[in-house]
Amino acid sequence: MACACAVCVAWFSLLAAAAQDCGSESDVEMSGVNFLQMNAASLAPATQGEQCLRFMHIPKTGGTSIDSANMHLPAGQRAFDSLMLETFLRVQAHTGGVEDLGQLYDDVHHGVLTYGIFMAEHMSDYRWLPEDAEDKCEDLHTPPSRSSDIALYYQEPGCTNFCVVREPLARFFSAFKMTNQECDPLSIESKALELLSQLNSRPYLSDCFFMPQVLSVYGVFNKSSATHQYCHRILHTENLDREFADLMKEFGHELQLPADDLMSTWTDHCNITLDELTPTTKAAVYEKYKADYEAFGYPKPSF
Ligand SMILES: *[C@@H]1O[C@H](CO)[C@@H](O)[C@H](O)[C@H]1NC(C)=O
Ligand SMILES: *[C@@H]1O[C@H](CO)[C@@H](O)[C@H](O)[C@H]1NC(C)=O
Repeated sequence: MACACAVCVAWFSLLAAAAQDCGSESDVEMSGVNFLQMNAASLAPATQGEQCLRFMHIPKTGGTSIDSANMHLPAGQRAFDSLMLETFLRVQAHTGGVEDLGQLYDDVHHGVLTYGIFMAEHMSDYRWLPEDAEDKCEDLHTPPSRSSDIALYYQEPGCTNFCVVREPLARFFSAFKMTNQECDPLSIESKALELLSQLNSRPYLSDCFFMPQVLSVYGVFNKSSATHQYCHRILHTENLDREFADLMKEFGHELQLPADDLMSTWTDHCNITLDELTPTTKAAVYEKYKADYEAFGYPKPSF
């Protein structure tokens, strides 16, 4: 049952209750066609009729800051389109009086609880895909392989898509901290092994937070079987400020990332470093995300 979510913490429990089949979903869902038309209609002002640029948000790689920078630009002058922007434009349209989209976005992202409550309040403005599946994800986390709406969105002729990838162990641990309270190396090890094994049969659990990055970029679990590259310009979390500013410049925008990490407080209940993780944890994560290590050229971590 999709709403059995006793192990989820913080915002996932709110989300699960509100989104994952627990109640009526008739007014939450839109047909794929409406959904795409809506995107097409709202795209025009974002791209100024010039170069079409779209941002693909791979969870836990720095995407929240990227969307924040863009939303702080005035309507009609935004540098790119994204499914997160579409979501917040829907929220804005339904929230009388909110003029500064960037401010709204930053305010609600400052704390895990704040965001959980906000999301629950605005659940009908979020889209969960695929419509009838277990372990639905927000549209912006959904890989193109799992939804034709998403695949089409990232195949719009004339559009360049960009995304950010991250060292897989760092990304895994960041997502782990957001969804688990364990914070000593041995407890983390046992919970992580359990989670990694669960992911074998449920790769999309927890709003797609633990999904391999190749699935978003190439739509497959191993780059060697890819037939299409959905994210054309791949940036790296490790050098994001610079790579992001350079890409924006190339597309004619002066835009920098915000200095503060909007979501740092979401995981600061646990300050253990990657080095402190047990060799068993590191080896298991490496095995699980080997396809990401191969596809994006990250060196094997030492363990
Ligand atoms: C982790 O570090 C952050 C930032 O330095 C700090 O605010 C937080 O209290 C720390 N958390 C723990 C559990 O020590
Ligand atoms: C991906 O496919 C290639 C070629 O078949 C293979 O050598 C590699 O081991 C695969 N990677 C993973 C992680 O399965």
